[in-house]
Amino acid sequence: MEKLVPLISEPQVADAVKRLAQEIERDYADRTPVLVGVLKGSFMFLADLMRQIHTPIRNVEFMRLSSYGAATVSSGEAKVLVGISEAIVHQQDVIVVEDIVDTGRSTSTALKILQSYSPASLALCALLDKPDRRQIPVTIDYLGLTVPDRFIVGYGIDFDERYRELPAIYALDEPS
Ligand code: IMP
Ligand code: MG
Repeated sequence: MEKLVPLISEPQVADAVKRLAQEIERDYADRTPVLVGVLKGSFMFLADLMRQIHTPIRNVEFMRLSSYGAATVSSGEAKVLVGISEAIVHQQDVIVVEDIVDTGRSTSTALKILQSYSPASLALCALLDKPDRRQIPVTIDYLGLTVPDRFIVGYGIDFDERYRELPAIYALDEPS
């Protein structure tokens, strides 16, 4: 069995989410953004983030990109499994909501696709950043917390579909 090592507690997650929501409120005071969650890992974060943004949101949408499956190391290019229609993004102020930016492949794929739909503006909000593993540079406009180069689970983030339900964030130690 793998071991779960506590990394970010439930109150620490809540603090980070609240701070990000305040930053977004401030920057979008005269705009109504469209939030685009990257499935599946961002669902819990997106739900909590929305509840803490006390200014209007125009729309919430989702895209789904290929995941790692049971592997803990990303390989190849991200593939689009569920896309988003151009009309939803065109001339809108779009904020992409990610659970974690690791190699940067899936986030940069999502940003590239959305940019091709000519939004009025495009920003990235990520709960977690694992900068040591970056292969493709990604600018995170709203960042929750930086994590070390360990495999992360909890708060929507899975290992082979498990552990998403945990309210806090853990590092997964695999048996060696
Ligand atoms: P990237 O394309 O390598 O930046 O990461 C793509 C996606 O892989 C992230 O949005 C997560 O959903 C998933 N991922 C990256 N790192 C981890 C991790 O440590 N644990 C679980 N999922 C991860
Ligand atoms: Mg993701």
